[in-house]
Amino acid sequence: MDTKTNPNSADKASTVNTYYATTPIFYVNAEPHIGHAYTTTLVDVVTRFHRLKGDDTFFLTGTDEHGERIYQVAMSKGQTPQEYTDEIAGKFRAIWDSLDIRYDEFIRTTEARHKEVVRHILQRVYDRGDIIFGEYGGLYCTGCERYYTEKELVGGRCPQHDIKLEYRSEENYFFRMEKYRTWLRETIEDNPDFIRPERYRNEVLAMLREPIGDLSISRPRERVPWGIPLPWDDKHVTYVWFDALINYYSALESRGLTERYWPHVNHFIGKDIVKPHGVFWPTMLKAAGLPIYQHLNVHGYWLTDSGKMSKSKGNVIKPLELKDKYGNDAFRYYLLRDMSFGLDANFSEVGLAERNNSDLANDLGNLLNRTLGMLGKYRQGIVPAAAELTSTDLELKAAFNTLPQEIVRLFDNLQFDRAIEKVLEAVRKANKYIADTQPWVLAKDEQQASRLNTVLYNCIEALRCASIMLEPIIPQKAQELRLQLGLGNRNYTLADAAQWGLTPAETQTQSGEPLFPRVDLAALQQAIEVGEEALKHKAEVSIDDFAKLEFRVAEVTKAQTHPKADKLLVLTVKVGPEKRTIVSGIKQWYQPEEMVGKKLVIVANLKPVKLRGILSEGMILAAEDKDGNLSVTTLDRDLASGSEVR
Ligand code: MSP
Repeated sequence: MDTKTNPNSADKASTVNTYYATTPIFYVNAEPHIGHAYTTTLVDVVTRFHRLKGDDTFFLTGTDEHGERIYQVAMSKGQTPQEYTDEIAGKFRAIWDSLDIRYDEFIRTTEARHKEVVRHILQRVYDRGDIIFGEYGGLYCTGCERYYTEKELVGGRCPQHDIKLEYRSEENYFFRMEKYRTWLRETIEDNPDFIRPERYRNEVLAMLREPIGDLSISRPRERVPWGIPLPWDDKHVTYVWFDALINYYSALESRGLTERYWPHVNHFIGKDIVKPHGVFWPTMLKAAGLPIYQHLNVHGYWLTDSGKMSKSKGNVIKPLELKDKYGNDAFRYYLLRDMSFGLDANFSEVGLAERNNSDLANDLGNLLNRTLGMLGKYRQGIVPAAAELTSTDLELKAAFNTLPQEIVRLFDNLQFDRAIEKVLEAVRKANKYIADTQPWVLAKDEQQASRLNTVLYNCIEALRCASIMLEPIIPQKAQELRLQLGLGNRNYTLADAAQWGLTPAETQTQSGEPLFPRVDLAALQQAIEVGEEALKHKAEVSIDDFAKLEFRVAEVTKAQTHPKADKLLVLTVKVGPEKRTIVSGIKQWYQPEEMVGKKLVIVANLKPVKLRGILSEGMILAAEDKDGNLSVTTLDRDLASGSEVR
């Protein structure tokens, strides 16, 4: 499978039976969403598949907890970064548990064991002379935690977050990445499947055709206190990507598993983070004298009608909502079946429901119900022994028993949707087999009793084999299916799906609830339309609701920079006789002194909130254009402070 060409593979020619797969470690500045759920479910499916195959398998996931953005979010919530990251890391774990994700290790970049390895690697690269000190300026996105070149921007804005970027310059340490550019380009050229699918390999090769420059790998600790201090200069903390990427290695290193798993590492990521993984990471590893990873596997994005799903645009779907509505396994099945690895796919609830109905309820569910129904009716629910197989039977048997090998090949090629479709094709063949052999006709003729036994037995075997091959994707339902077949206490390997005849005769089946209840599509469609209609109305505010807001004129008497946040101003204002404090994010546009004396419009009855430790008692109104320029709302006649604005 996956060792053919990589120069760092442990065992080049032999079949690899060790497999190490990783998800990105997710930022904790947002709650888990469908995008995170996809990568993690995918890696869960892939690692379950390798375990089923008998491979020595390790699955790593975790959370990325350092950096400026996370620090800011924690502060805005009035929490310490540690409290905040503990909380969100806990949410990620809980969601993975509820999605039946079986990771072997969950790493957090704030753990001591990780920090130690990061500092060790940094020191090593520094000692080799590949980290130097210098000044850097450029356009920075705190969402991505990186600088962008003009060329990478879309309409002057961050391509990921669609925001205008701020110019920044600071003294940083730099990793001499450019030094390794030619080496990396040649390595990728010599190893066609190092980065897969090909479109992303080409993307990285294109990046490497021009100078990549050196990578700024530190931030002043004064500005970003939430990070790992550099071992040789604790006035600087490690840049979040340098810190985060090392998780893939530190998780193994801290458990003494490096030798066993590192040579087999497969990273799975979304297309948004190709550059850090395709360029930063291999050059970092090379500079640290460590073997590079085996494969970088890049998937596309799940899209909704309103564009790419992301935290900054807010249109994230809570995975749990649909998983609870349709069941874990239908949800997992949809994610794996409806995305071709590497390409984008459209996420829709209707799509999920349709998949549930067509593949799971109709094809698989029907095969089970019909088989157990007939077995109950004709054989008291007891599996009969099969007699000799006819050519029709042999065809069915072959359709299933050649599949495991085919599926291994498809999984190795990252064609997960095709692999699933292959199993479903076989399931459909089994349904057709029932239609062709007509057991209900056989049942009427005593002479055909043995033939009927054989047909029923073959249907049971088809179900058993299908359940094994689908188990990584629908783990709970595959187990339930086998419980109904009377095989609940047996553990199967993938090889057992290549063998016909493993169900013992006399097994007592146990038909139960339908595995995948059918969804009423018409009702769903209608509910969606009603929901959309309701949403439209929600956007309109009734006059009564509007009347709840109290706007007033406030005069600024004092203004100063927030002691803990360089983007905030702390304003003291007079609202009639009353004095109030308002914390406002306008520092970028207004100097404190130019605010004094201004008469502004404020929302006066907003519930007070603490912003970075200072209680803000109201909000000032300001206008913002599409380029992010801002102007506070003032009056064009001089009215008394405290006047009501309507
Ligand atoms: N913390 C970094 C990764 C560091 S890895 C050393 C990060 N975190 S993230 O929380 O933003 O997660 C990005 C990843 O989430 C993507 O690479 C992808 O795996 C997943 N997805 C986020 N949105 C997605 C979709 N809409 N569709 C599919 N997956 C996407 O970047």
